[in-house]
Amino acid sequence: MPDAEIRPSERDAPERAHADFTRSLSYGDYLHLDTLLSAHQPVTPAHDEHLFIAVHHVSEIWLNLIVQELRSAMALLSSGVTDAPLKMLSRVVRAQEQMTNAWEVLKTMTPADYLQFRSAFGQASGFQSAQYRMMEFLLGNRHPALLRPHAQRPDIHGLLQAAMQAPSLYDLTLRLLAERGLDIPAAVLERDFSQPYEQHPAVLDAWLTVYRDPERYWDVYELAEKLLDVEDNFRRWRFNHLTTVERTIGFKAGSGGTSGAGYLRRALDTVLFPELWQVRTEL
Ligand code: HEM
Repeated sequence: MPDAEIRPSERDAPERAHADFTRSLSYGDYLHLDTLLSAHQPVTPAHDEHLFIAVHHVSEIWLNLIVQELRSAMALLSSGVTDAPLKMLSRVVRAQEQMTNAWEVLKTMTPADYLQFRSAFGQASGFQSAQYRMMEFLLGNRHPALLRPHAQRPDIHGLLQAAMQAPSLYDLTLRLLAERGLDIPAAVLERDFSQPYEQHPAVLDAWLTVYRDPERYWDVYELAEKLLDVEDNFRRWRFNHLTTVERTIGFKAGSGGTSGAGYLRRALDTVLFPELWQVRTEL
């Protein structure tokens, strides 16, 4: 029957929806939901283990997207393009917000709830999250010790090592500044990328030039503000993680072998894009 002859109430009825998927993909097939949901496997009968696994899974899915967006943005930035990377970094910022919001759900788990399944996962810890490390390495937080938990997975280790030796998002941004005619020393542009970035007075001067005349340097100015959004959200995630950890396990050592809250508190001092914070003081 042509659509025009169908009464509106019938046209909107669920019976009209597709029901035969013998020759086309269904929702579940397209998303491989059987595979995805089969990964949800609590190892104890504890009620809250479902929540614990779900929050880790969704965080890893967001990390997967963040890493893809960062990689695409960085590939374009390295060829001098800034428009599309700005849009990609905006998406990274929104995905980070989702990761940070996940703490709100996880906070409904009390220490007693957590202790019902804590012993079941032994030495497993987010410290071993390869995707989190990849995100950090792309953003520029690089320390060889962070590769150690991946030694038994040469495939993952290789990918992380390659990211650690390549220019970070900030290194590529500084290259763009040089391409725009700003004075970025060769020692900065050709530094040993496997080491953490060390701030340089000439880079601060270059950012001062940009921030004093945004109209002239609009695309790199906009990019700088986007990087700040990314770092701002990165800090928020870390801070909320620390607070959740303290309210769940207090000051016990972490399952991954660090001191726990003390280690995470120290990580809060990390600064990814130092001159972008300092330039505010100088303006
Ligand atoms: C109540 C829940 C949680 C507790 C008690 C907890 C505890 C900890 C502790 C103590 C550490 C320090 C490393 C170690 O284990 O020794 C750590 C690291 C980490 N956790 Fe969690 N965590 C929780 C939830 C999560 C969630 C939901 C994620 C999401 C992916 C996550 C991701 C990470 C990451 C990426 C690190 C490494 C951080 C870094 O090295 O800077 N954690 N966690």
